[in-house]
Order: sequence, then C-alpha cells, then structure tokens
Amino acid sequence: MVEQKNWYELDLVKGMMGTMGGKALRGVSGTFIGSRIHSGKMGLIATKNYLDKTMKPEERRALIVTDDFTKKFAKKVTDILNLIGFECRIWDGAIPEVPMYTVDEGYKVCEEFKPKVLIAIGGGSVMDTVKAVFIKYEHPEMNMHLIIPILQEIGMRQKIKYTIAIPTTSGTGSEVTTALVATDTKRDPPKKIEILGNELVYDITILDPYFVKDMPPFLTMATGLDAFAHSMGSYVSNYGSAIIDMCNIQAIKETLKYLPRAYKYGAKDIEARQAMQMASTLAGMGFGNSTAGIDHSIGHAFGSIFHSHHGLTVGLFTAYSIAYQSKVTDRWMDLCHLFNIDTKDRDRNELLKEFLQAILNFVKSLDGPTCIKEMQEPKITEEQYREKIDILAEMAYRDAVTLTSYRPADVNGFKVIADAAWDGSIDKILEFGGKPK
Ligand SMILES: [Fe+2]
Repeated sequence: MVEQKNWYELDLVKGMMGTMGGKALRGVSGTFIGSRIHSGKMGLIATKNYLDKTMKPEERRALIVTDDFTKKFAKKVTDILNLIGFECRIWDGAIPEVPMYTVDEGYKVCEEFKPKVLIAIGGGSVMDTVKAVFIKYEHPEMNMHLIIPILQEIGMRQKIKYTIAIPTTSGTGSEVTTALVATDTKRDPPKKIEILGNELVYDITILDPYFVKDMPPFLTMATGLDAFAHSMGSYVSNYGSAIIDMCNIQAIKETLKYLPRAYKYGAKDIEARQAMQMASTLAGMGFGNSTAGIDHSIGHAFGSIFHSHHGLTVGLFTAYSIAYQSKVTDRWMDLCHLFNIDTKDRDRNELLKEFLQAILNFVKSLDGPTCIKEMQEPKITEEQYREKIDILAEMAYRDAVTLTSYRPADVNGFKVIADAAWDGSIDKILEFGGKPK
C-alpha cells in the first residue's frame, strides 16, 4: 500500500520553507483566531444562556464526547443542557493518541444522531478526536491529509452549529488551536500527523476549575509542561506576530509562577489551578495561531516510538531545541527576564548556557526528566534509544512543525539534538556547526 503523506512532508514544501522560513510569512499571512472563552465557575451557565438565545428548539441535539476517564463529567453538562430542552448523547470512545479508526467510529455516531453541537470533555486526545470527527462529519469525502491551512478554508459548520471544549487538563491548548494531532495507524511504525484548519478552533471554551481541580500531580506536571513547551517553542520559532508574542510571554510567566504550586498543592490551590487553565489557553492561542517549536517535532516522533507522555516529552526537549536554534537567533534572550536572569553586559555564550540551564532546572523542580536517561516512564536503555535515533530524526524532520524552525532543521540536526538529549550534554548542540541541507 502507498503511504498517504501529509502536505507538509512534500519535498516542494520542505524546500520552500527551508529556504525562506516562517519569518517570510510575517506580514504576508497572519490570522488570529480565538474562542469565546468562559473562565471561572459560571462558564456552563453562560454557555447554556448563549445556546438558549441562539438555537432553535429543533436544533437542540448535542453529542458529548469523552474518554473512559472523563465520562464521569458528562452528567454535569447534560443536567444543564436538559434545562433548555437539549437531547444529549454521550460517546465515550475517544482514546489516547487519536488513532484514525476512532474518528471513523465517532463519525458513525454523528451520522446516526445528527447533532448540531459537538462537546468535547477531556484532554488533548478528546478535543482532537472531536476536531477530526467534526471534519469527517462535515466532509466525509475530504482527504484530511491535504488540508493546507494558509491556502484553504474547509467549509465547516454546514451541519454543526457550535463546537464546545471543556478541557479537563491544563496544557494541550487544543481548545483554541487550529490543529489536531492524530495517529496514522496505516503507517509502519504508526506516525503522529497534524491536521490544520482555521475552522477547527472551538467556538466556545469553558475553563471551569471543577473539571481540573482533582488532576493527579503527574498529569498536572506533564500537561503543564506541554503548555510551557508550547509558549517557549512558539516564541523562539520563526513564525508569529506581536499578538502571538504577547500570548506566549504571558503564558510562560504564569506557568513559571503557578505550575509548581498547582503540582504541589493540587485541589487545595484553586488560584493556581485557574491560573494554569488560563496559561494553557494563552499558550494555545500563541502556538495555535503560529506554530509550536521543534521540541514538538522531535517530541511527536519520540512519542510515536516510545509511547511517552506528550507533555513530559516536549518539556524535556524544550531546552535542546532552543539550543539548536540559538545559533541563528537571539529571540530566547527576550525570555531571560522571566527566569530572573539579568542580561545586561553579559557574554552571549554564558547567558545562553545559564538560560538553558534555567529551563532544565524548572523541569527538574517539577520532578520532570531533563534527559532521556532520567526518564522513568517509559524506562529506556541507551541501546534501545540509540537503535532508534535514525528513525526518530527522520520522523522529526517530516513533522509539520519543522517547517518553522528558526534554524532550518534536517535529519542530521535532529540526530545531534537526539544524541545530546540522551544524557543532557547540551554543549554538543551548541558546538554543532554543521549546515543543514
Ligand atoms: Fe503539545
């Protein structure tokens, strides 16, 4: 069988973006899309009132999508929607990594139930499942692999009137991003793929602390590191705008302050929980309207091969990815003050090393791994890791995010990053002068 490649893997696109970079798109293409965002405890009520005023009685059918864990939250939502005459159906078939066959299952449920509202209650996998089901339901004939966001609108909301996201973790940002990440299980090994479209941003986002307050510490830390990686990686990438910078910088600031508290105190510190909900959404608006960093290129590849937690993985690769790009950009310097690092009269190299160390220290302070060797879940031997470095680098190169690396990244570049990330020898990246093709 011939593999279906995504548009960003085509040599023409790779060559074009490798030459001009995302920076060239600044001023040529800039779109900022956001949700109606309700934060705090009134979000569900505010949403109910909005639906009540804008939907006809015969349209009031909502499909609520959860996974096995988050289906426990569905009743809180159906109880409210029932007050305004909604017929609700719950489908709990979303699973981690969004294998494409689950999208087909969700599509079948839509075909039968004909919802006008799609509601995702869950983390990134649930929200991304709903985005993919949404496309398939609106356009069953469409080849999702070839949707090019800059050139084309999909033509959504012919059947669905509103999409609503209720995140139960704080990190993915999927509620406000134009992207979904799924797993193409027809490839060997299965590959994570990104599908992008301006119309995929949820219409309504509800950030109610009720849905996140009892997250266990590991999930708080790992998803929080995803938000951290989104904002850091996006800021240092080659694509963005002033409004995107604003979202990313504030997200980094809030994450540095509140993620350690949310991790340590959990449900006892609702202020930190709410701050992290907002930080995650801000980071989502930042990277979702531009791009993530290449920590996500290699993080997606690593996750596909070793099945590690996404947030933990991209958090680990953040410092290494910025180190790689630092050869050609000083954008990281703008972030030093957020880590309380004084930049005045400093030697660039010293400053860079201190900054990279501060990133690793932050990850470490949350008990996150700062190199592959330290990873506990999964535990990977050096031999197992080195055996996979070639395919890891190849998959990272083929990732959509790689297009907007500030320093063009090829397979060779990703091998250097991967090698250094084994035991934390970040200097190997700083010393790497090879010119990617
Ligand atoms: Fe992410």
